[in-house]
Amino acid sequence: MKTPLSNKTILLIVTGGIAAYKSLDLVRKLKDAGASVSCVLTQGGAQFVTPLALATLSGEPVSTDLFSPEQEQRLGHIRLSRQADLIVVAPATANTLAKMAHGLADNLASAVLLASNKPILIAPAMNSQMWASPATQANIATLQTRGIHQVGPASGMLACGEIGEGRMAEPDEILQAITALLAPAAGPLAGRKALVTSGPTYEPIDPVRFIGNRSSGKQGHAIAAALAALGAEVTLVTGPTALPAPAGVPQTIAIQTAREMLDACLCHGPYDIAVCAAAVADWRPATESECKIKKEGEAAPTFSLTENPDILATLSQAVPNRPRLVIGFAAETDNVLDHAKAKFARKGCDWILANKVGAGQGFGQDSNEVTLIRRNADGSLAATPWPAASKQALAQKLAKAVAEALE
Ligand SMILES: Cc1cc2nc3c(=O)[nH]c(=O)nc-3n(C[C@H](O)[C@H](O)[C@H](O)COP(=O)(O)O)c2cc1C
Repeated sequence: MKTPLSNKTILLIVTGGIAAYKSLDLVRKLKDAGASVSCVLTQGGAQFVTPLALATLSGEPVSTDLFSPEQEQRLGHIRLSRQADLIVVAPATANTLAKMAHGLADNLASAVLLASNKPILIAPAMNSQMWASPATQANIATLQTRGIHQVGPASGMLACGEIGEGRMAEPDEILQAITALLAPAAGPLAGRKALVTSGPTYEPIDPVRFIGNRSSGKQGHAIAAALAALGAEVTLVTGPTALPAPAGVPQTIAIQTAREMLDACLCHGPYDIAVCAAAVADWRPATESECKIKKEGEAAPTFSLTENPDILATLSQAVPNRPRLVIGFAAETDNVLDHAKAKFARKGCDWILANKVGAGQGFGQDSNEVTLIRRNADGSLAATPWPAASKQALAQKLAKAVAEALE
């Protein structure tokens, strides 16, 4: 059976992070998806996984040494960098990222990366302080300006016991990013245009303060990547998040406010699909102070609020360019289904995904649990609970359902 990654060759570089154990699963998933995989293992990487494990799973010899006469004769570093359709560095250590950013070539992995003329995808994995350090962030910024693709890192519990950003993206997410890069037009959504909104909006009070919310953008970004992986041409409109642009998404528009988000949604298109996953502020301060509001006297300032534009309703009612499928999210803290059904009736969209948010659920988490609400053929409402899953898995399920609905 032909799969999106049939006839594709991936060079997987495994560097010295504890997340290297997940790379074994990635190799298996890539093979299952029909790809050929060869691996380069750094000395650091070999402290965590063995060449034998990678060779067994990939079915190919593993290269480890720049100066090995035998390895250099068989598949020299130049040839390794040429034979692949895509080079994937997973996990990508702070050390290897620094070498990439500065053009070092003192081991096989860095020499292959420097000699490469192929697209490169990195999956950074490290302690959150290493990730947040100015040095690593400067290196990442350099790599992004050179067009290096990135997936993750995620936030959560790290191997060192700390909680923070730096966990390698899950193998499924890396596979999805690889598919989006290598087979963007091969999927069932090829030729379809999709709009996805993601993240929070920030509504300014004065030049330094704003009304915002806890949305991380993880679900919206995952949906953008999942639609792209099925071949859709995706435009992502996103509020402020700490996430990199998702792999395979050609256009990402960064906005701050709900009004900017609406403008960005309306100025491109038309779209076949619109997924409104952003947590758009319902209200904004009626006036924005030009200067920072000062603390004067005892009285706290009071604000009047004014309603923001309703992006989901606007897209649902857009004439003549209404997307064929408009999907919204109803993030609720209580009476989730009742509120979601009321929102569904009010907005005029085609589907709503209801999810519970607050106290460790929904916003900022890596997993989500939703109920899909849509109409049956006879006009009655159908509410289908989807079991809790990672936001990537949920995004893939949604993208598949979208593809089936547009068949
Ligand atoms: C137990 C252990 C876990 C480590 N985990 C990471 C990690 O997750 N990310 C990272 O950037 N470095 C990590 N390091 C440090 C790297 O292994 C070290 O910087 C090494 O030089 C990386 O070499 P490489 O990039 O050539 O593989 C770890 C080191 C140890 C001892």
